[in-house]
Amino acid sequence: MVKLYTDRFIMTPGPTEIPYRVKLALMKESTNPDLDPDFLRVYNETREKLKHVLNVREGSIYVMTGEAMLGLEAAIANTVKDGTRVLVIANGVFGEGFADLIKAYGGEPLIVENCEECWRRSADPSVIDRELEKHRDIEVVTLVHCDTPSGILNNLVEVGKVVRDHGSLLIVDAVSSIGGVPVDFDKAEVDILIGGSQKALNTPPGLTIMAISERAWDRIEKINYRGFYLDLKTWRDMLDNRGIFPYTMCDVLIYALNESIKMIMEEGLENVHRRHLLAMKASWRALEALNLNPYPSSMNYSSPTVTAFEPPKGINSEELRKIIWEKYGVMIAGSWGRLMGKVLRVGHMGVQASRTHVLSAFTALARALRDLGYSVNIGKVAEAIEEEYK
Ligand SMILES: Cc1ncc(COP(=O)(O)O)c(C=O)c1O
Repeated sequence: MVKLYTDRFIMTPGPTEIPYRVKLALMKESTNPDLDPDFLRVYNETREKLKHVLNVREGSIYVMTGEAMLGLEAAIANTVKDGTRVLVIANGVFGEGFADLIKAYGGEPLIVENCEECWRRSADPSVIDRELEKHRDIEVVTLVHCDTPSGILNNLVEVGKVVRDHGSLLIVDAVSSIGGVPVDFDKAEVDILIGGSQKALNTPPGLTIMAISERAWDRIEKINYRGFYLDLKTWRDMLDNRGIFPYTMCDVLIYALNESIKMIMEEGLENVHRRHLLAMKASWRALEALNLNPYPSSMNYSSPTVTAFEPPKGINSEELRKIIWEKYGVMIAGSWGRLMGKVLRVGHMGVQASRTHVLSAFTALARALRDLGYSVNIGKVAEAIEEEYK
């Protein structure tokens, strides 16, 4: 079989494909980002656009050079100190992972929603309400909006309401939802929201986005983090008050992110979100045609940016992935933590949330399954997807 260089569909849940316009932005002439007033203008313009995408009317936005992990650690470092009690909503790999960060800063995590069944559904706000009622000394709550390794989406607004009613601070990892799913920072009354560049924003890895509420700033002042690089106050004091960057930015990544958000705004946020929903529904139809089990127990719990499913019994998921990539030119992902080897994922984030991409991914999956002796009807898979896009 001939493999063409065009057979190269990246359908992983981040890093994702970089669209042509974003690639061009990456090639823009660099100056000295510390000194160039034009760069500061583009940086501030990017922050304004992000405010629109995230619905931040009150609160600050920063884009920092570093992976999303930097933002997650900065959020915890600035709000948690020795003895801080934190409710960790742990219905996924990243949800559970917050506990390690909290412990690293001396906090005491109280882990909830961490059962076999909980990982297959959105977190239950009534459980969070009950735990916050029972443990009145909880000051901070952590939530992952889309837990990428399991493809689960949590309900930001519902959880936000419960947390606000109890007066705790809400920290949200929205790394793999921003740009694919509505994120309403103000309505959900989030205090610190963290994003990354390499998911639905179709920009290379290397930037973290942080939105910070006024309530969060009060706590940040009170905690007064003693470290240096992750001190969020430095960003506010230098960038907002004096118009200078605390550290040297990667200017081309900012140009790329700016272009990507421009593309999203040209398409219209609502259209972008609808396109992601459609990709999710088509993916679920394809799984049904393939007789494969989605990992979330219902489509209502599934993130519009990624579809997670179980490989058929007796089929080695790594061997399957290898065939899909090497023979059929589509890269899909396995999973992490306790889901490693048990869950496969098709990312439909940003430009990947398209009919062509979804068709390519699931027909390649079907062909590879057939190569491994699993009975499939490839035509039925394609038809199921087309049906959703009719
Ligand atoms: C939900 C979520 N949070 C955080 C991260 C970490 O992002 P990064 O690899 O940019 O540090 C990821 C990466 O996959 C993620 O999916």
